[in-house]
Amino acid sequence: MNRKTIAFIGGGNMGEAIISKMVSSDWKGDDIHVIDHNEEKLERLSSEYGVHAHKEPGSWLSEIDAVVLAVKPRQLAEAIKASKEWIEDALVISIAAGVRVKDLEAMIGHNCICRTMPNTPMKIGLGVCGLYSTPEAEPDHRFIVKVFAACGDLIWCTKEEELDGVTAISGSGPAYVFRFIEALTEAGLRYGFNDVQAKRMAIATVLGSAELAKRSGESPSVLREKVTSKGGTTYEALKVMNDRHFMEMMQDAMDACKKRAVELGDAFHESVEAAEK
Ligand SMILES: NC(=O)c1ccc[n+]([C@@H]2O[C@H](COP(=O)([O-])OP(=O)(O)OC[C@H]3O[C@@H](n4cnc5c(N)ncnc54)[C@H](OP(=O)(O)O)[C@@H]3O)[C@@H](O)[C@H]2O)c1
Repeated sequence: MNRKTIAFIGGGNMGEAIISKMVSSDWKGDDIHVIDHNEEKLERLSSEYGVHAHKEPGSWLSEIDAVVLAVKPRQLAEAIKASKEWIEDALVISIAAGVRVKDLEAMIGHNCICRTMPNTPMKIGLGVCGLYSTPEAEPDHRFIVKVFAACGDLIWCTKEEELDGVTAISGSGPAYVFRFIEALTEAGLRYGFNDVQAKRMAIATVLGSAELAKRSGESPSVLREKVTSKGGTTYEALKVMNDRHFMEMMQDAMDACKKRAVELGDAFHESVEAAEK
């Protein structure tokens, strides 16, 4: 099917982030619709991005080719219920964390579904978005890529469970990196730099190292070894990190994140089952 138009149910943080990147690429605001409770938000989205703004779903929605579920997981059942009769033929793209395809299918009533796990750097086009689709949505992969293309790197998953790994690495990953930046900044302050200098040093170090890792043909471990001559300063720092089991600690943190993603998916599944009874 040749899909062209799209409606966002929810124009909050993530909905707006995706819309802003879409209109900065080759999407026309005229092909994008947003439904949100909040009139002020709708007015702003409409004037800033030229999209159609709606306070509620309605029969107009049955003309739309695809729907993005961009509300919080706890708001999802109600949002789907309000739109269900008009999205029978639409491709449904969900960005709701931890809500599985089977549960979406039970609520929507069809299985042309793509589930995604975006992250916040998508707001500046430098995000990572994990995607998993049902076989029924495979013919729509080009359309889906067009929706997220300007948001950053897209990682297609072949199994839905892989999205829990995406959650642990890139979905929650920005928080790990922000924590690391906080640690570098705090050290800068302790060493007598002012707040601006400390923050600049910390951010530039992370940004420069990530860019070098991206552009260089060498692996991150080779790049690390190159700045770690035995007996030198970096060697001493990394020795402390190794003694404190940095790699194991990071692995444990990501395992805990992945485990929580599974638990939240299970809890959502139970709530869908309970509502069906
Ligand atoms: N933020 C992240 O880092 C991140 C990363 C990956 C995935 N996600 C996922 O992205 C989804 C959206 O998160 P967000 O941070 O963008 O949330 P948000 O800022 O709260 O945006 C959701 C918007 O949808 C509106 N809304 C709620 N129910 C609605 C309904 N029935 N009809 C129309 N509009 C409705 C909300 O209005 P009210 O405020 O009035 O309720 C709000 O404006 C979540 O499912 C989350 O799991 C977020």
